[in-house]
Amino acid sequence: MTVESVRPEDRSRAGDEPLEPPVAAGAVPFLGHGLRLARNPLAFLTGLRDHGDVVRLRLGPKTLYAVTAPALTGALALSPDFIVAGPLWESLGGLLGKEGVATANGPLHRRQRRTIQPAFRLDAIPGYGPIMTEEAHGLVERWRSADVLDVTRESFRAAVRVAARCLMRGSYMDDRAERICAALATLFSGMYQRMVVPLGPLYKLPLRSNREFNRALADFHLLVDEIVADRRASGQKPDDLLTALLEATDENGDPIGEQEIHDQVIAILTAGSETVGSTIMSLLLALTEYPELGGKIRDEVETVTEGRPVAFEDVRKLTYTANVVVETLRLYPAVWILTRRTVADTRLGGYRIPAGADVIYSPYAVQRDRRSFARHEEFDPGRWLPGHSDEVPKYAMSPFSVGNRKCPGDHFSMAELTLLTAAVAAALRFDQAPGSDPRPRIGITLRPRRLLLRALPR
Ligand code: HEM
Repeated sequence: MTVESVRPEDRSRAGDEPLEPPVAAGAVPFLGHGLRLARNPLAFLTGLRDHGDVVRLRLGPKTLYAVTAPALTGALALSPDFIVAGPLWESLGGLLGKEGVATANGPLHRRQRRTIQPAFRLDAIPGYGPIMTEEAHGLVERWRSADVLDVTRESFRAAVRVAARCLMRGSYMDDRAERICAALATLFSGMYQRMVVPLGPLYKLPLRSNREFNRALADFHLLVDEIVADRRASGQKPDDLLTALLEATDENGDPIGEQEIHDQVIAILTAGSETVGSTIMSLLLALTEYPELGGKIRDEVETVTEGRPVAFEDVRKLTYTANVVVETLRLYPAVWILTRRTVADTRLGGYRIPAGADVIYSPYAVQRDRRSFARHEEFDPGRWLPGHSDEVPKYAMSPFSVGNRKCPGDHFSMAELTLLTAAVAAALRFDQAPGSDPRPRIGITLRPRRLLLRALPR
């Protein structure tokens, strides 16, 4: 069954009897599709649409539903029948806290989104302009004088510093941002392993990796407590996310609890740094593999700024640079897989999905689909020019997702990444250094495995 033979809208009318989604081909006895999914998840997920718009996957005794057609991934993200739950979320909540916006559902989630939204609205972003500009130029200076850049470390450092300094302002942030970087780097690598191989006792063994992970987790929680305590002690109330959290009230008008404030800070810092750090890495890889991009960005920056250093105020006019960022998000979406659980028997595009089912879809697969994008694997920022982008089917390009879980940091990220790309590409070009391994690394986010670059003056 293919998308050509089964048009989702044909059978989605309420009166029609829903169909059982087909089982994707390639399952083997006992393990089902598990081995193929584990061995090469990106290739496996990208091939699934050839088997149907919604397909069933067998993982040992478990059945998983995979949604492959763009229109249906949009319908899934917008439907109240699917919530954030399942084994991956449970292990994430267990590590990072259960009261943060990324893991909450229902009325708590709605209230939390209302609390944080003002800090991320389009009209709030210019307030972060001076910090974003300072950080982008600081990075260029740092990289100019480096011999070989460890891009993993540098990208995450940049992402954490911008998120922490913009959203939780205070001079104390400089030193703390470095500590947060160190803790998060250890946490992210260990967390993915704990999510996909949830063997609790294994992670209690007195191994060095477990000790390091636990130390980083404890330090991260401690850091967040320190940040909150310092802000309270300062008596200051700058117009930022932390103030919004400290002043938030619940549905009864009472201040929200300490645990919720803590978990919210954790949820936003982790969601905002891993994704942006991975995207900076992918952007630098694109600039290295396609050097002509950097030349065109430099030309655009020169035209827009007429020789002065690029600043946040220029972002609106840097359309080519922004298109390079968007194309990077298409081919290398940091969030490469999303999961949901059904709260009731439901239907999607005419297919039946039972209550309690785990459902996945992959922005990576959807955004590389040849049915949606001409020259689907080619890096072409031009496809996002006005007039061209209209050809992209709805929901075929949603790296920040849609619906009630849509990333609140979308405008923030686009401004930050466009400015950073402009500042970096206008000043530097890159070569890979020995030991660099740009193959994709699949973890909580998608990013190049180990990128080592030499920065050369342009
Ligand atoms: C959620 C992508 C940057 C905070 C999400 C989701 C995606 C996403 C796809 C939806 C997850 C789902 O549907 O289950 C990205 C990408 C980014 C980025 C690609 C950068 C390139 C940021 C930044 C922040 C942030 C900078 C904050 C500083 C969050 C939060 C959520 C979220 C708190 C959870 C929202 C909810 O569940 O209601 N992000 N994100 N993200 N993102 Fe981002």
